[in-house]
Amino acid sequence: VPIREEHRELFKSINSFVYEYMSSPGHDNSHDYYHILRVLSNTNRIFEAEQKANPDCNYDTSAVFLAAILHDVGDYKYAKPGEDVENQVSRLLQDRGASEELARKVQTIVKHVGYTNETKSPQSVVDMLSKYPELAIVQDADRLDAIGAVGVGRCFAFGGARKEGQPMSVAIDHFDEKLYKLPDMMKTKIGKRMAASRKKILEDFAAQFNEETELSFPLQ
Ligand code: ADP
Ligand code: NI
Repeated sequence: VPIREEHRELFKSINSFVYEYMSSPGHDNSHDYYHILRVLSNTNRIFEAEQKANPDCNYDTSAVFLAAILHDVGDYKYAKPGEDVENQVSRLLQDRGASEELARKVQTIVKHVGYTNETKSPQSVVDMLSKYPELAIVQDADRLDAIGAVGVGRCFAFGGARKEGQPMSVAIDHFDEKLYKLPDMMKTKIGKRMAASRKKILEDFAAQFNEETELSFPLQ
């Protein structure tokens, strides 16, 4: 992990927590530990490209990768009854030896990663990006995992787990509701480029799905 020596043990300990947390009952394949691993890989790829493009931008590497690995901890959709998600990430980090400053920074980045948060208060994301440029990297890394072939898979996994009894096509409805909008919301150059090609995969899939599900059997 390209993380500073002083935070290696912390990262290892957080990784064990996240593995257990994302593997706990209720976490379907759209939000499992493999999603976290893919987001970490995307983060690494975007981080390298951004560092090359902006050598003067002093990214806090520990904050980048801790936010990436923790970004789905405290997601209200998966919270257990009574679980206090408000400052869960910050508390967890401090319990495991992070400074209050690092813990708060990572908590703030994690709070601003989500799509819903950005559509509700876009200005808060703009403000936060100027304070913490690390947010752009983690946001794009998470969003890339919602589109492309994996995006299709996650959408059906979510539908299967959370929309029981509804037709499979509800997964395709989600393409229009949210997924097609993601490429225009990417913040980094490499993120924009990757998102454009992954969007094409969604469009081709949806077109083929619609063709195959056109019904022509006359019941009456
Ligand atoms: P974010 O954290 O960016 O708000 P979500 O956690 O809501 O993103 O969604 C991540 C992925 O989970 C989506 O890209 C999609 O694959 C799946 N998903 C979430 N909500 C729905 C939904 N209502 N219908 C189908 N899939 C969904
Ligand atoms: Ni995520």
